Amino acid sequence: MSANPHIKRSVAAISGYTPGEQLRRPCLVKLNTNENPYPPSPAVAAVLHDFTADDLRRYPDPVCKELRAIIAERHGVTPEQVFVGNGSDEILALATRAFVEDDGQIGFLDPSYSLYPVLAAIRGVGALAVALDRDFVARLPESCAAALFLLANPNAPTGRLCPIMEVEAFARRFAGVLLVDEAYADFASDNAMRLAASRPNVLVMRTLSKSYSLAGLRLGYAVGPADLIAALYTIKDSYNVDLLAQRIAAAALRDEAAMLANVARVRATRTRLAARLAELGYAVTPSETNFLWVYPPARLAAQAVYARLKAQDILVRHFPGVRTGAHLRITVGTDQEVERLLAALKALNGAGEGSL
Ligand SMILES: Cc1ncc(COP(=O)(O)O)c(C=O)c1O
Repeated sequence: MSANPHIKRSVAAISGYTPGEQLRRPCLVKLNTNENPYPPSPAVAAVLHDFTADDLRRYPDPVCKELRAIIAERHGVTPEQVFVGNGSDEILALATRAFVEDDGQIGFLDPSYSLYPVLAAIRGVGALAVALDRDFVARLPESCAAALFLLANPNAPTGRLCPIMEVEAFARRFAGVLLVDEAYADFASDNAMRLAASRPNVLVMRTLSKSYSLAGLRLGYAVGPADLIAALYTIKDSYNVDLLAQRIAAAALRDEAAMLANVARVRATRTRLAARLAELGYAVTPSETNFLWVYPPARLAAQAVYARLKAQDILVRHFPGVRTGAHLRITVGTDQEVERLLAALKALNGAGEGSL
């Protein structure tokens, strides 16, 4: 079938981002999109309880003043150094429009967050992929011609943290804007937020989707030099963050203790899960996130393990492709969910020779 001629050729040519499956089945063990298995702060439920339909008559604050003040205080910067977006995905898209000329390039690691090359394609600019080494360790380039570098740290889907000293050294030698995507920083041992306050070309981005258990809310933010932040404000949609999201995010951010308690539980389960997977013969990449990047034991193909688990209502993530296709990404769930996963994997190990 030929493409509809009304659609721009460049758009028709893009394959688009493939999100993780969002199946809704009651008994599903959902370990495929790095959501938090624990509920958000009780303060979130309180906001929802008090929210009235009448509240929706008016537009929200277009520049999220209250939220920016909370975030600025948290990170020791001024509100002018904070941008709030409709999820961090929105901020990534805005950065590709604000910091890259039409003949420019966007850099990122490979493999990394699979949205990055899609954003470069949507923006119609070059993509400069910097290969991770064979153990998925990042070697940040000595020189890089990109105008914008999107650095997921810790990286997804591998879970590894690139030492912040190396990130800082890269920021110093890199002539473009370095956007450090810290979606998983709360699960990690270090982060680059100090660079956002000190380097003229560094933006550090966080999301409430993972550690704050609010993936459904769509709230992300970036911290960095005021001039870069102002550029993002210039081009954003008028009301990019809705009223309910602003109120809920403010309540959640004020209750940092609830987030930290959930993170501690996830990290403890991560350690146990990694040890048990290793016992089952899986090679587990060291993780500073809420997921594990694993390589199944010799006889099992990752794609087949994924399919077998899915047949038992256990969803993990498989990314087809040369660098990623032999691995699986497994989100750290509750202890109960993880037990179901491990029991299923154990049964697969015991399945007859050649069955996978
Ligand atoms: C590295 C990375 N950045 C950003 C995001 C998206 O975050 P948000 O939900 O805030 O758009 C994800 C989600 O999976 C991610 O893995």
